[in-house]
Amino acid sequence: MACAAGSRGLVLGIETSCDETAVAVVGRGTEQLSGVVASQVELHAKYGGIVPEVASRRHVEAIVPAAVEALDRAGVSGRDLVGLAVTNRPGLVGSLMVGLAFAKSLAFAWDLPFVAVDHVLAHVYASFLVEPRPRFPFLALVVSGGHTDLLVFENHDEHRVIGQTRDDAAGEAFDKVARLLGLGYPGGPAVDRLAPKGRPDAVDWPDPRLDDAQGRFDFSFSGLKTAVLYHLKRQEALGRGVCVPDIAASFQARVAASLAGAAFAAAKEHGLTRIVIAGGVAANSGLRREMVDRAARGGVQVFIPPIWLCTDNAAMVAAAGYVRLARGERDDLGTSVFSHS
Ligand code: KG4
Ligand code: ZN
Repeated sequence: MACAAGSRGLVLGIETSCDETAVAVVGRGTEQLSGVVASQVELHAKYGGIVPEVASRRHVEAIVPAAVEALDRAGVSGRDLVGLAVTNRPGLVGSLMVGLAFAKSLAFAWDLPFVAVDHVLAHVYASFLVEPRPRFPFLALVVSGGHTDLLVFENHDEHRVIGQTRDDAAGEAFDKVARLLGLGYPGGPAVDRLAPKGRPDAVDWPDPRLDDAQGRFDFSFSGLKTAVLYHLKRQEALGRGVCVPDIAASFQARVAASLAGAAFAAAKEHGLTRIVIAGGVAANSGLRREMVDRAARGGVQVFIPPIWLCTDNAAMVAAAGYVRLARGERDDLGTSVFSHS
């Protein structure tokens, strides 16, 4: 890709790791020209969660129309691209296979290079699509339905995990608590919508941050979820009603304070002055406010992508892939998919 520097550096990003079929066109890893996200939320809502086989089948139906629309909206064709980037890990294997097979087909048909990208790392690259862009080094807090990771990013190639969840991910906790509260699926946005109607200090929930980890910033969200379950059972046994907005508000406040507190403590310990937040839970209004409030105290700059770049999308995949494509890296047709990073 020797000509990439002189071209617009257009990359087609493809994302099918979970329940969104997403395709986007991004220039030079920083400028989003188009982005299509075909959501399957309604399809899975009646089951109360994602049904993997149903997800894969819908990806098969949605991927070609999504790609056509992404190229159309960007006003470009295959000839204008310098390469393709596709998520191949972690995620639902059947879903990932649809995106990867599609990317391989396009790469073969259009004679373009492609790179396979890690979904969790791709979330971090959402922050490069908006100004101001983070400079290295920085701390990244990736909070999604499957991950709760704190990572130190030295540069594009060097990053290490300094904290993670030992059980449920932060988004999973939102989804499970929403289910306990009868708020339906997906739970995170439902809790977020209800939280402003309740009192954040209504219940003093246990902190999901583990304090037994020396130099680590680990979490356990399953304990917090169980605390909510027992609280609801106790109230029921006592014949007391439950104020659902109070539970939503106090649960969200606890999670936001815990995540933000850990991110700022980790940044301080590692001498970092920039924090990037990423992933679906980074769309949470409580967490966003908590990050901004702490940053206002000085010393640390926070990078918070707009909400549509926090939840699953393909622009972040294109942005992450561009860095490798621009260096001439490429994957081959033998590349596979993996359920884990
Ligand atoms: O990053 P993402 O779209 O997909 C994964 O990679 O998992 O994250 C999805 C997760 C779900 O658990 C969803 O409930 C949560 O992000 N989420 C939120 C909000 N929006 C999405 N959690 C809290 N507040 C939100 N506003
Ligand atoms: Zn995601």
